[in-house]
Amino acid sequence: MSFENIKWIWKNGEIIPWADATVHVSAHGLHYGSGVFEGIRCYETATGPAVFRLKEHLERFFESAAVYNFVIPYTLEELTDAVCELISANEFKSCYIRPIAFLGSKSLGVFPGSCPTEVSIMAWSWSAYLGAEGLEKGVRITVSPWRKFHSSMLPTTAKACGQYLNSLLAVSDALERGFDEAILLDVNGRLAEGSGENLFVIKDGVITTNSATDSILMGITRDAAIEIARTLGYAVETKPLELDDLLNADEAFFTGTAAEITPIREVDDRVIGAGKRGEVTEKIQNTFFDAVSGRDERFLEWLHPVKRFVTA
Ligand SMILES: Cc1ncc(COP(=O)(O)O)c(C=O)c1O
Repeated sequence: MSFENIKWIWKNGEIIPWADATVHVSAHGLHYGSGVFEGIRCYETATGPAVFRLKEHLERFFESAAVYNFVIPYTLEELTDAVCELISANEFKSCYIRPIAFLGSKSLGVFPGSCPTEVSIMAWSWSAYLGAEGLEKGVRITVSPWRKFHSSMLPTTAKACGQYLNSLLAVSDALERGFDEAILLDVNGRLAEGSGENLFVIKDGVITTNSATDSILMGITRDAAIEIARTLGYAVETKPLELDDLLNADEAFFTGTAAEITPIREVDDRVIGAGKRGEVTEKIQNTFFDAVSGRDERFLEWLHPVKRFVTA
């Protein structure tokens, strides 16, 4: 990942140079993680760049903010235009997009009072999050000693900045121990999700993933994978998953905007299925990449074409 080619940032309604997009050290969001964000991808298609499920991501952005009572002073339509304008200004054909709304500088009581909400959007090139080899061969993961917090502690369906310290601990521990990613259990010892991905397991042709009551972020890629799998004729169930369901699966994969659809080949050195990307996973993955790049007409409605803006 590199920030090298970013020329422009969208900040509080304006496109400004990268170097000017700074934040004051007294910002509430910096001290308490009081912010919400999104991770979105824009893909290259035959007719130009297109953003994958932009509306759903921006809807989740507003929903995450609402849980915390942060007011985003822009409409969904304004942010849709802002995303397109930013991609266009940076001349990206494909990129990762990061809208963030955080509490700015006014006071530092934990109760934010009248702290203003600052909104920014970044976009940059970000290749396969768990590596190109991971996409093809599958990744090696570990069960994290850190549990995923329960929705009675923090709103698990919100994508909020401070909540990611839980993910940071889990992924750091996994990488330090030589794995590619962590899988977190929930407070009851059932499977929750990866540090930045949802989980799917496949057994005897049935695809299963867990749901909002299992302390997961309701991933937009998860939703796409369910729809793709059903379109391909597979049975998909949503129910709580035990660790055994993963260890005894024929195939397993992660979904996420950054990770896309990444097969899991080992859990704590135990081989899953044949220890490589499984047949069903590969079909879902191929259809996903056809969908995001506009090659599969069945999923064209998921793509928001980036209209070109004339920038000063
Ligand atoms: C904790 C967590 N779970 C799941 C996901 C997958 O969500 P999505 O597919 O919407 O990117 C993400 C990534 O945003 C995440 O950070």
